[in-house]
Amino acid sequence: MPSALKLVDMSDETITENTIAINSQHKDERLKFLMAKLVQHLHDFARETRLTTDEWYAGIEFLTATGKMCSDIRQEFVLLSDVLGLSVLVDGLSHPKPKEATVGTLLGPFHTHDAEDKQEGDSICSKDLGEPLLIEGILTDTKGNPIPDAKIDLWHCDANGLYDTQYEDREHPDMRGIFTTKEDGSFVIKASKPVPYAIPHDGPVGKMLQKINRHPYRPAHIHFIIEKPGYDKLITALYLRGDKYEFSDAVFGVKSDLVFDLEPLGAERAAQHGMKAEDWYLNWDFRIITEQEATDLVTSKNVEALKKSGENLVLNQDGLPVYAPLD
Ligand code: BEZ
Ligand code: FE
Repeated sequence: MPSALKLVDMSDETITENTIAINSQHKDERLKFLMAKLVQHLHDFARETRLTTDEWYAGIEFLTATGKMCSDIRQEFVLLSDVLGLSVLVDGLSHPKPKEATVGTLLGPFHTHDAEDKQEGDSICSKDLGEPLLIEGILTDTKGNPIPDAKIDLWHCDANGLYDTQYEDREHPDMRGIFTTKEDGSFVIKASKPVPYAIPHDGPVGKMLQKINRHPYRPAHIHFIIEKPGYDKLITALYLRGDKYEFSDAVFGVKSDLVFDLEPLGAERAAQHGMKAEDWYLNWDFRIITEQEATDLVTSKNVEALKKSGENLVLNQDGLPVYAPLD
């Protein structure tokens, strides 16, 4: 591509502005902004740490191994993003919630698109494994109005600490299902008490965790995706209070508003649902926001961030920051 731009006076100090300039000869303003910030922060990282050639190459080798570990069923780069706290951060920035709504958290790699539709009171567990759990609740908007006909897609690992997709002989979906809320927004689900488990750690990310003296465990949790046309899709998870890893989740998913307590099911509910009194009970209401509320909230957060930056930025048509046009 012919260009009028000339790179000049290359040095440790000027390399950044030169790189940003040559990367900016196109019309995609958002990409221009992302590339400029990426280069700026990468170069500052190298300058601030006085990065050596050996360290830089060790980083390249690590990223190469991470890429080689990826396949159709293994995304080692997402795992790297998870253990570096980036996945939860990006989710929080893209899907902020008002304090009246259920907060989101990271999706993780074990959601599938083949979960079966379930009826009220059905169980998601096909094996007689673990301690039975009854989950009841109501889905509402932020004003407390019930939301009927919404889909609640949930999944969690079994008592062995494994998701169904981690079994080589998997024939059917298990430990997952899609429920529909009733007219009054209510749902009744049978599951089992979740247990803590280790994230995949047989690859480069696992090696990195070991090297920096970190464990690979997640506290016991249940994942949920809640969807209803006109409402912002909620991706979240609920975490069992008191779990050994509640305060050291390998992927930083735990938020205090998502921590639940269990109580024994009790004789009355047990009789109602064909379960045992000593089984577990979880009562949890979810509150979701409309698509409009979600868009307005992201935009107002982005405006706030833009003002704080002190840079000459504007929001583009998607409500995302870009450099202000030069007049
Ligand atoms: C999960 O919760 O399923 C998960 C999240 C991040 C990495 C691995 C597993
Ligand atoms: Fe999980």
